[in-house]
Amino acid sequence: MNKKSSQKNTVFVCEACGAVCAKWAGQCPDCEGWNTLSERVRASRKTGKSSSLGPAAHRLADVDTKQSPRVSTGLKELDRVLGGGLVPGSVILLGGEPGIGKSTLALQAVSRLSDMMPTLYLSAEESVEQLALRYQRLNLPAQDLQAFATGNLEDAVALIDRTGARLVVVDSIQTMHTERLDAAPGGVGQVRACAEMLAEVAKRDQVAVLIIGHVTKEGSLAGPKTLEHLVDTVLYFEGDATSRYRMVRAWKNRFGAVNEVGVFAMTEIGLKEVKNPSAMFLSGSHDDSPGRSVLVSQDGSRPILLEVQALVDQSSLGNPRRLSVGYDSVRLAMVLAILHRHARLGFVDQDVFINVAGGVRVSETAADLAVSAALISSGMDTPIPSRTAFFGELGLTGEIRPVARGDERIREAEKLGFNRVFLPLSNIPKGRDLQDDKAGPVDGRAALVGVSHITELQDRLRV
Ligand code: TYD
Ligand code: MG
Repeated sequence: MNKKSSQKNTVFVCEACGAVCAKWAGQCPDCEGWNTLSERVRASRKTGKSSSLGPAAHRLADVDTKQSPRVSTGLKELDRVLGGGLVPGSVILLGGEPGIGKSTLALQAVSRLSDMMPTLYLSAEESVEQLALRYQRLNLPAQDLQAFATGNLEDAVALIDRTGARLVVVDSIQTMHTERLDAAPGGVGQVRACAEMLAEVAKRDQVAVLIIGHVTKEGSLAGPKTLEHLVDTVLYFEGDATSRYRMVRAWKNRFGAVNEVGVFAMTEIGLKEVKNPSAMFLSGSHDDSPGRSVLVSQDGSRPILLEVQALVDQSSLGNPRRLSVGYDSVRLAMVLAILHRHARLGFVDQDVFINVAGGVRVSETAADLAVSAALISSGMDTPIPSRTAFFGELGLTGEIRPVARGDERIREAEKLGFNRVFLPLSNIPKGRDLQDDKAGPVDGRAALVGVSHITELQDRLRV
């Protein structure tokens, strides 16, 4: 491999938007930002061996796919988010705000695996002593985890080669830097170059790499969007660093379903799995004050019951506030318009707040019905009867549209003792009649209240 030519092989990356240009320019051609382009090394094409015959393609039917079985991290909630366990040779990005628990989770996740494969924890954020202190305090089972404190990528790669590590944690990518670039660590150029080189090592030597990345206040990793396409799996911590509970969601996964959520609680001895998240998110939601509803959400492969809170209050502002935490604010604007047009609930001179309890973010449209119910309840100052759950999508004409996996949602609500479920009429399973909403549970089954229009929901809640 000709070293000279590969060294000359640089491109220019925009620090703001991540656009790649062949030549330097004062202005980014993509986002039109000034002086945002910085030089970085193009990923080297070195593959370790080259054949004089050139590259050969594989018949997909003949490729042995059994060679990459999944290995369990010992944390069931994490295995679930990964799609059944860690895939050897895969690159995982674990993002989240500072202090949310990324290092803790990484340490716990690789600890058990270090008994099965050589494992290396590379940290540029903490010293080996600090890591050891945490490791020993967490009382982790395995004894073979090795650690090294460095921010130098070349040192890190050399160490991976020397130790023959099969699993590597890089904590964090923002503190790594490569000598191939002059730029300071943390910038888009460095972050990208380091991640590319790590991904290359992962693919070349079948090393699983867990890259930790800090999320900026705007919610994106430094160097917006520049890392996600480089890795196989993107996991993000959700939730509030001040609360006990933490969720890890798969945003991208080449080896499993996206939107899968793992739920953990932060304790004195690290992150503990939460086996029954529905019960946890609903704890304390039994009093019947107006503005509370329970949503049966199903973003990943399992349903979770969540509490939606709404507050509608007289506004002192000319332009009343519409604020939403955990629920899409564009959808909130839509729901408010539908309530105004079809249910004659204006909220015109009122501030409206929506909050999904526990710091959870709901991304599915099935939350519309629960949000509407909470708004109606707060607006009319009438509590929703306890043990009542909701799911369903709202259409612009006020119709309630069916959502996926209705049966599983109903079962989860029943499992947790809910005796009434409001749902889209067409989500009522065959063989289960529409029951009167005053009927109590029969044989542990909830009364299913099928609604097909927002006005029906309003009428039913008025009682
Ligand atoms: P950490 O994993 O260091 O966060 P990150 O790497 O995402 O910045 O976790 C930080 C928080 O977790 C810190 O505030 C202390 C808390 N924590 C516990 O409560 N119990 C524990 O056992 C550990 C290790 C951390
Ligand atoms: Mg950390």
